[in-house]
Amino acid sequence: MVGVDIIEVDRIAKGIEKHGRKFIEKLFTPNEIAYCENHVNKFQRYAARFAIKEAVAKVIKKGPKPYWQDIAVTNRKDGSPEVILSERLLKIFPHPISISISHVKDYAVGMAVAYPK
Ligand SMILES: CC(C)(COP(=O)(O)OP(=O)(O)OC[C@H]1O[C@@H](n2cnc3c(N)ncnc32)[C@H](O)[C@@H]1OP(=O)(O)O)[C@@H](O)C(=O)NCCC(=O)NCCS
Repeated sequence: MVGVDIIEVDRIAKGIEKHGRKFIEKLFTPNEIAYCENHVNKFQRYAARFAIKEAVAKVIKKGPKPYWQDIAVTNRKDGSPEVILSERLLKIFPHPISISISHVKDYAVGMAVAYPK
């Protein structure tokens, strides 16, 4: 099963500029926030994480809403991303999911692939 999502970086940047911390904390986990804030092109990175949440939601298909805090991106030591699901999502979808991220100035893409048994 595959899910993909593309998002305009500006959409996330405008949300953050308008609503600030409240907007960020609604959509992203503390770890995701720390990662984005500590790297260059933070709006691209926030947008990519938003795209991953949508891509993973496409893979899982059913589940609770909103799910922003239930689908979190972390980065391994080599920089590659992995997705961590909340307990309540793991109950619905207990399968490994691989993700990939890409972002440029205007767009960010998130892709998710799952391997249900
Ligand atoms: C590091 C690398 C991903 C950068 O790619 P880029 O085109 O400059 O940037 P992109 O926007 O497309 O990708 C950036 C995202 O790649 C992901 N990434 C970083 N290191 C990665 C890695 N080792 N493997 C897979 N994904 C990686 C991250 O999710 C990053 O976004 P984030 O920091 O917001 O999480 C790329 O050089 C790469 O794939 N390196 C690892 C593989 C490699 O070196 N292969 C060589 C032999 S085939």
